Amino acid sequence: MSSNELRKKFLEFFKKREHAIVPSSSLMPDDPSVLLTTAGMQQFKKYYTGEADALQDFKSKNTASVQKCFRTSDIDEVGDDTHLTFFEMLGNFSFGGYFKEESIRFAHDFLVNNLNLKIDYVSVFKGTKGVPADTESEKIWKKVDPSIEVRKFGREDNFWGPTGSEGPCGPTTEIYINGTEIWNIVFNQYYSHPDGKLDPLKTPGVDTGMGLERLSMVTRNVKNIFETDLFRPLLNALPEEISERNRRIIADHLRGIAFLLADGFRPSNKEAGYVLRRLIRRVLVYGERYNIPPHVFEALLHDVVHEYGKFYKELMSTSDVIHTEFALEREKFSRTLARGLKELSKESKIDSEKAFRLYETFGLPYEIIKEFAGERGRILTRDGFDEEFRKHQERSRAGLEKKFGGHGLLLDTGELKAKDEAELKKVTRLHTATHLLQAALRKVLGEEVKQMGSDITAERTRFDFSFPRKLTPDEIEKIEQLVNEAISKQLKISMEEMKFEDAQKSGALHFFKQKYPPRVKVYTMGSKEEEFSKEICGGPHVLNTDEVGKFVILKEEAVAGGVRRIRAAVL
Ligand code: SER
Repeated sequence: MSSNELRKKFLEFFKKREHAIVPSSSLMPDDPSVLLTTAGMQQFKKYYTGEADALQDFKSKNTASVQKCFRTSDIDEVGDDTHLTFFEMLGNFSFGGYFKEESIRFAHDFLVNNLNLKIDYVSVFKGTKGVPADTESEKIWKKVDPSIEVRKFGREDNFWGPTGSEGPCGPTTEIYINGTEIWNIVFNQYYSHPDGKLDPLKTPGVDTGMGLERLSMVTRNVKNIFETDLFRPLLNALPEEISERNRRIIADHLRGIAFLLADGFRPSNKEAGYVLRRLIRRVLVYGERYNIPPHVFEALLHDVVHEYGKFYKELMSTSDVIHTEFALEREKFSRTLARGLKELSKESKIDSEKAFRLYETFGLPYEIIKEFAGERGRILTRDGFDEEFRKHQERSRAGLEKKFGGHGLLLDTGELKAKDEAELKKVTRLHTATHLLQAALRKVLGEEVKQMGSDITAERTRFDFSFPRKLTPDEIEKIEQLVNEAISKQLKISMEEMKFEDAQKSGALHFFKQKYPPRVKVYTMGSKEEEFSKEICGGPHVLNTDEVGKFVILKEEAVAGGVRRIRAAVL
């Protein structure tokens, strides 16, 4: 079955079951606070909250759509078997029409009876502090098919909703086929308030999402999404000497480029325009590297427009714009690229430092430099280049070198601020205390606690973290006590430098919002056998926890939906 047939079959299935079929909304969201459309439910938010009436707008409380989505979070991962920037999401939605029983039955019926697929297993929400387990969904699955295995997971996997803002949210049930998560069914039964409090929604709703690429993969029984008809023809149209990985990147990006341009985005230096520019430039860099003539990309864009245009008419009507804008950006970039390559040609020897300068000034990526430098770049290595990158990050992180410059501060890492030696000592103790605090929070409240921000001055540490509700006095006391115990145990603090990937593998905590250099420092508190805390961090820290002194929590409060803030001091 072709992907185009899958789209139609999905919509027909739900049309027969009294759903209004709604066209995909634009990738440019109505809501100016979001950069791009990332899920099918986005255009329906106001129907969940009751601000708008679905019956009035769609003549039905239930809708279904095939939605264009774009997620920037995976951009660097594209090229492996699973990640994409642009993708399509099949979804059915209900705003007080039906709930868990029907949703689960619909999904099962569509996959098993209509598409003849076999479900490996499903997952349901096992509950966490303050939010009950979704036992209803478990029971329904058992009723629908007693042979299906039901696995139970926590908030990270089986709960969907806004983090850091308010809106509808709730437990999910997910369906797995051939080891892949195929369908995410969200039961919006709560409303998350800015302080993280969850209230039951007046009218519970259903929001489901199934990636078309994955569905196509399992119905065709192929190894990965790139073997489907959504991608294979595009990959095959690229020269053979380009590696599979790079062909995937080019194909993914060209799809994204066509759809973004069709929805009115233009390359620029900010926000979504920058995302688009990045996609185009990356494709062009590959073009330069493999000597791909411009008409190859033109032809691929043409294929995307015509293949996807059967379903997404806007691609057809904006076809000229797509080609023109792509060509304009190519013109602009080729000048920078040419300047960079000219600079490169002047150098008789290119080491990591020079390569990094070319990267910084002209945006020439490592691969291009290595390729074009040829013999002159014999000593240039990826590791060396990454090391330069790391040094650069350290310099620009304003760190210790900022002595008495700028704000008259001795230390300003963004997180830590100190104006003289005495303050430096104090913030260093508070910094170590902050690591102990994060570890203690996770021990008491659970691993869902994630750092959302921190700020340390000589007076106090201020630590923001994700957690859905107010802490109880008991929990606060316990956390404070755990930190003070770690202090009195006189734990040694050690630092090790390693590759960022190795640090991640070692389980070192890191701040997800931050982009890390290829090599990072990992600070461990406690012996290997008894690690109390382990984090990726630029330092500085004290050498032994007993230097921290006595730790006291001053205040616990909300800063945003699902985000709490603790202020603490050391005596
Ligand atoms: N909103 C959910 C998701 O993005 C289900 O559609 O996975």
